[in-house]
Amino acid sequence: MRVRVDGAEHVAERGQTVAAVLLAAGRGSWRTTRIGGRPRGLFCGIGVCFDCLVVVNGVPDVRACQRVVADGDDIRSQDGAELPS
Ligand code: FES
Repeated sequence: MRVRVDGAEHVAERGQTVAAVLLAAGRGSWRTTRIGGRPRGLFCGIGVCFDCLVVVNGVPDVRACQRVVADGDDIRSQDGAELPS
């Protein structure tokens, strides 16, 4: 499958999570904190900590460790977190 990571094309394997694709692309972090702009990426890997938030196909706050990648996904780094409205 082909996906895009911050605009660059990458090959992904069926069943990989978005986090796995990001790590395979050499990314250690893909989000910054709302306060202080500190880098965040994979931490717990089981959907608990919400450190791995990322934008997938324009939808923010996707947990990269829980979302299975799909062909054509557009994965983008995220600044902070979207607050519930
Ligand atoms: S790494 Fe903790 S929720 Fe994804």
